[in-house]
Amino acid sequence: MKVILLGPPGAGKGTQAETICEAYNIPHISTGNMLREAVDAGTELGLEAKSLMDAGILVSDEVIVGLVEERISSPDCEEGFLFDGFPRTIPQAEALIKRKITIDAVVEIDVPDQDIIDRMAGRRMHPSSGRNYHIVYNPPKEEGKDDITGEDLILREDDKPETVKDRLNVYAEQTSPLIQFYSRLSSEGLLKYIKVSGIESPEAVSSQIKTGLEA
Ligand code: AP5
Repeated sequence: MKVILLGPPGAGKGTQAETICEAYNIPHISTGNMLREAVDAGTELGLEAKSLMDAGILVSDEVIVGLVEERISSPDCEEGFLFDGFPRTIPQAEALIKRKITIDAVVEIDVPDQDIIDRMAGRRMHPSSGRNYHIVYNPPKEEGKDDITGEDLILREDDKPETVKDRLNVYAEQTSPLIQFYSRLSSEGLLKYIKVSGIESPEAVSSQIKTGLEA
């Protein structure tokens, strides 16, 4: 199963990715997490990406496509994978087609902008795994600590309200055209396009996705 999760920043892609990847036993490929790992490791890519990410601007298509290509050549991707935050532009989606990488399903998680701004302020992240929590909607068992490792949770640099607004603009301009792009491929019978409402509880959103994937 090869799945793309599409949706604005904070729509719940990372949250839903955990459930889907567990259910289908496929790896979670988050370009955002890969870039944050590069930033933490202080690699050349990380140094280049940091200022862009902090400002909510997209990293170049060339860099991202190279990163993804390398990741999906790993043996754990043979049976499928889930893309979270990729593709994010039409050229990134076209790069998949050019490389004959077929996708089974695109899941769009729809959340209005105002809900997103409210959500982001409460998000907390476990840096080394990318696991996400929310102080109200999805709190960790112990305040400020990751459920699995007990390590500290952090507030992401790009979750400040003014940066979230910029990220929403970038989504509207550069990523939302993918909705039409993949809807067209779906109408041609080339993949399944599933749109779910992301404003329900995480469990209810998971259940909508499961129904769509199994239909
Ligand atoms: P990335 O890390 O991909 O960020 P994003 O797409 O903006 O998405 P987020 O991780 O912010 O949100 P999410 O949808 O995963 O939501 P989450 O589950 O955490 O990218 C960061 C940056 O990297 C980009 O700005 C760009 O610079 C660069 N980049 C990455 N990929 C790139 C690419 N392909 N091309 C170019 N540049 C790229 O949920 C959010 C919060 O809400 C959490 O607190 C969660 O607990 C809570 N929540 C989740 N579901 C619900 C629910 N149903 N109800 C209530 N709360 C909920």
